Amino acid sequence: MANNDDQFKKVISHAKEYGYVFQSSEIYDGLSAVYDYAQNGAELKKNIRDYWWKAMVQMNDNIVGIDAAIFMHPTTWKASGHVDAFSDPLIDNKDSKKRYRADVLVEDYCAKIEAKIDKEVAKAEKRFGDAFNKQEFISTNPRVLGYQEKIDTILKRLGKSLEAEDLADVKALIEELEIACPLSGSRNWTDVKQFNLMFGTKLGASAETAMDLYLRPETAQGIFVNFLNVQKTGRMKIPFGIAQTGKAFRNEIVARQFIFRMREFEQMEMQFFIKPGTQKEWFDYWKETRLKWHKSLGLGEDNYRFHDHEKLAHYADAATDIEFKFPFGFKELEGIHSRTDFDLKQHEEFSGKKLQYFDHEDNASYTPYVLETSIGLDRMFLAVFSNALMDETLEDGSVRTVLKLPAVLAPVKAAVFPLVKKDGLPEIAKQIIEDLKWDFNVFYDEKDAVGKRYRRQDANGTPFCITVDHETIETNTVTIRHRDTMEQKRVAISELKDIIKKEVDVKEWLMKM
Ligand code: GAP
Repeated sequence: MANNDDQFKKVISHAKEYGYVFQSSEIYDGLSAVYDYAQNGAELKKNIRDYWWKAMVQMNDNIVGIDAAIFMHPTTWKASGHVDAFSDPLIDNKDSKKRYRADVLVEDYCAKIEAKIDKEVAKAEKRFGDAFNKQEFISTNPRVLGYQEKIDTILKRLGKSLEAEDLADVKALIEELEIACPLSGSRNWTDVKQFNLMFGTKLGASAETAMDLYLRPETAQGIFVNFLNVQKTGRMKIPFGIAQTGKAFRNEIVARQFIFRMREFEQMEMQFFIKPGTQKEWFDYWKETRLKWHKSLGLGEDNYRFHDHEKLAHYADAATDIEFKFPFGFKELEGIHSRTDFDLKQHEEFSGKKLQYFDHEDNASYTPYVLETSIGLDRMFLAVFSNALMDETLEDGSVRTVLKLPAVLAPVKAAVFPLVKKDGLPEIAKQIIEDLKWDFNVFYDEKDAVGKRYRRQDANGTPFCITVDHETIETNTVTIRHRDTMEQKRVAISELKDIIKKEVDVKEWLMKM
């Protein structure tokens, strides 16, 4: 694919064309940064959620899952700090009247420098061929080192000013870097101001008695307020975790990049309750464990990196992001935060209820510390989907578009085709569907030539295509074609289930962790 922009456009249009993601309320011209998952998207999303739930909840004896409500008592958000501190630094361009996140303007500037590094690497790779050593080149080439130093200096200063709430310096940085509004091209900026991201709503029948509520901006607080209920009813012993998946809402100002930054999105979060003083050890453990989970999906070892936070959130004593190489560069996919005892202590203070743990080994009570892993399901979807989409030139020179989704996550595991729509072949194909659908999501297709049907399933991400032909009638065998290798094999119908299972089974994939 020509360049990153083109690739990203292709990802968005492919997601629509193949029934993965639609703009919300499209017939009314859509709603900005809100998306609907379509027939294939909903399956892919569910499979990602299940893959996470299996690894995080069901495979860990000491982690349980809950499903807390989206609406929470409004005091929750005072206690959590979101009312006072959950805001973004915003800046307006006076000419275009467009509003931007000040930190994102600076980060985008750095991403452009990063693109220059990528260009240098690509050039050198072409020049040196097989002898090219990327790591060595990046760590020695003076031009690349210069670019990297510039990025580091800028991001360090940005981090420091945000940490110190020095918004005047954030504006000064934007001015010094001569960042212009992408729309008007002007550098006529307002001051930088903080803007709270929570959506408000009302609960109650009449205007007089209605209570002001917020839509939760993270699922984590539903876990904290249930900490003691779960600990007691589940007789959980520290260290233990509570996990959940669910919707979160943020009034994102810079809402773009498709499903990367949405106003309504889904999180998969786990709060791990630990003994104070052990947070460093658990931080390292979860960093490593979560990265292994990502890598088990085979999206490419080089597509991940850690980004340790300079600016820590109000609740954290250490934090890192697992960044993924999206079509628009390395960006946050998951956060791992050492949240100390901040949340539980705050909820104790605001609710007046004790949220402590009695440690029988130490014969003492304490407020546990918390290690959090938090990943956006939609972002994970984008990572998987954008990584999978490719144009492949075949031996005969033709190009096929293929969505090489990890088979464990693919929405449809196998498509079954009768070679022709007669001679009893559709009936056999439909019987195969009837048998397989107990175990897998399968799809029947009899329209167009088989070659065309293969291509449709390649683009749809379906790992297997099964074709029923005239030989099937005689021998009870079919051909099974593999999406990635395009290899076709003749196998007995009775073998199909095992062949498919071997490639799509969650266990096979998670064992790679
Ligand atoms: N409980 C901690 C928490 O919410 P966060 O870093 O603000 O931390 C965690 O969010 C993850 O949620 C992010 O790494 C990202 O994957 C996802 N996320 C956050 N805001 C998002 C948005 N507007 N759209 C899509 N995903 C988002």
